[in-house]
Amino acid sequence: MVIEASAPGKVILFGEHFVVKGKPAIALALDLRVNVRVDSSNTNTITIYSHNTNSKLEIELGSLKTSGSENLVQLHKIVEVLSSKAKLKPAYIEINSNIPIAAGLGSSASLAVAFTAAYSKFIGLELTREEISRIAFEAEKIVHGKPSGIDNTIATYGGAILYKAGEFSRIKLSDIQSVSLIIADTGITRSTRKAVLRVLELYNKYPEILSLIYDAAERIVVRALGALENGSWPIVGELMNLNHGLLSTIGVSTLELEELVFTARRAGALGAKITGAGMGGSIIALAYSANSSRIAGALREKSKRVIVAGIDSRGLVIRS
Ligand code: MEV
Repeated sequence: MVIEASAPGKVILFGEHFVVKGKPAIALALDLRVNVRVDSSNTNTITIYSHNTNSKLEIELGSLKTSGSENLVQLHKIVEVLSSKAKLKPAYIEINSNIPIAAGLGSSASLAVAFTAAYSKFIGLELTREEISRIAFEAEKIVHGKPSGIDNTIATYGGAILYKAGEFSRIKLSDIQSVSLIIADTGITRSTRKAVLRVLELYNKYPEILSLIYDAAERIVVRALGALENGSWPIVGELMNLNHGLLSTIGVSTLELEELVFTARRAGALGAKITGAGMGGSIIALAYSANSSRIAGALREKSKRVIVAGIDSRGLVIRS
C-alpha cells in the first residue's frame, strides 16, 4: 500500500515575528509543494529519504532510536506522537519538494504536515486536519523553538488566513487575478529559530519601545485585511512597505534583503518586504500581473532564485 500526501509552502504577507507574541498575521499558501510518499518495507525501521537534501533518517521500531541526518530529526517527534495513538509499521518514506529550504517559505512546516498526514494514514489512523496541524506543530517546536503555529496552519488549510494566538480564520480575497506575487531569495540560508530568539531578546531588552512597534504591526494587519477583502492592491502594497520598515527596526533585515526590496520597488512593485523570519531568506513583492515579468527580470539580476507564484487554495492533499 502506498500513501502520498502533499502540502503547500507559504508566504507571510503581514505580521511575521510580531505573531510570535500574539499579534495577528496574514499568510498566503503558495502553489509550491512538498510531497511525501510512504511505501511498505520489510525491515524493522522507518526509513526516510529526502531527494532534495540527499539525506536519510532511520527510526528503529520499538526503541524509536534514530540514526542519520540531523535535518530530518524533527520527524522523529511526529513518529513518537503517532506511536501513542496506533501501532507503528515499518516504511520507506520519500520526500520531494519544490519549496526552497530555509528561505522563509515554510518548507519545514509543509514537510511536517505532509509527513504526519501520509504516515498516520499508512498506519491506519484517521486524523482530522486540525489534529494533523497540531501534531506538525510539535515538530515545528523542535525546528523553530518558539513557533507561532502560523506555518503549519497555512500548510494544512491553504488559501489565505488571518492567524492570531493559535486561532485562525479564512480571508476572502478579491480581484486576485490582477496581481502576482514575486519571491526572490537572497540565497542566504538562516535559522528561523535563531531569528525568533534574537527578536525576543531585543523585545525583552527594550519592552517599552518594542511593544509600540508590535502595536503598529497589529494596526497594519487590521488595515491590510480590509484592503485584501476589497482588492485595494496599492494600499496592500503600501502596507507591505510599512511592515517591512518595522521588520528592519526589529533587526531581521540585511543588506542583501534591502537590496532586493528596493530593486522590486524601483522596478514598479506595489510593495515589497521580507517574508518569514528574515536575516537571509526571501523577500516578497506584490505587483500588477502586467508588471510582474519586468519586476522578476530586475530581481533576477540580483538573486539566483526568483519565483512568480500563484496562490494555492487546496492546502493538504492526501492520495492513496
Ligand atoms: C516564520 O515563517 C514566521 C515567524 O513569525 C516565526 C513563527 O511565526 O513561528 C518568524
